[in-house]
Amino acid sequence: MHKIAVIYDSQTGNTKAMAEAVAEGARKVEGIEVRLKTADEAGADDFLWADGVALGSPCYVGLMSAKLKAFLDTSHEAWSKVDGKIGCAFSSAGGAGGGAELTCLAILTALMNYGFLVFGVPDYVKPGVTLHYGAVAVGRPDETALSACRLLGERLTEHVIRLKPSG
Ligand SMILES: Cc1cc2nc3c(=O)[nH]c(=O)nc-3n(C[C@H](O)[C@H](O)[C@H](O)COP(=O)(O)O)c2cc1C
Repeated sequence: MHKIAVIYDSQTGNTKAMAEAVAEGARKVEGIEVRLKTADEAGADDFLWADGVALGSPCYVGLMSAKLKAFLDTSHEAWSKVDGKIGCAFSSAGGAGGGAELTCLAILTALMNYGFLVFGVPDYVKPGVTLHYGAVAVGRPDETALSACRLLGERLTEHVIRLKPSG
């Protein structure tokens, strides 16, 4: 059984909707166990449990929220023990160009520090809309943004299985 943890912060529900779509995408592959947790609920044990993780945050002043950063700061027990696992990011911002991709990069930087292998997705979910650094959305995610989130989750699962075929 392959295991995926989707961990997010969300104050007004936008990143939460994205997290649910990432989890839905991850579950598309049969035999995957998915944990969906808020940054408040999650801990080092979730990092240790998972084969792959997707971390999501609202864009706050161009970076991840303090709550997601607190999860990363207080899960240090897992640091280096997750070396070689797969990680990816998603973010919701108030406006296009407001920093959602920068927030994804901040999350990917932290995941790299832990030892995760991080990825982006080169595909387009429709002309002009992609997720090269992770899935991004402006405000309440529309169907296109949710498709990007589902694709992120699906790709996370595929990478986990490719890396660890026997589970
Ligand atoms: C403290 C704070 C800082 C924010 N900074 C940015 C920002 O730098 N760029 C931006 O586009 N939106 C910014 N926003 C807007 C949020 O990223 C946006 O409303 C997001 O969709 C909220 O996600 P949530 O519903 O998951 O909480 C900020 C909001 C707050 C409360």
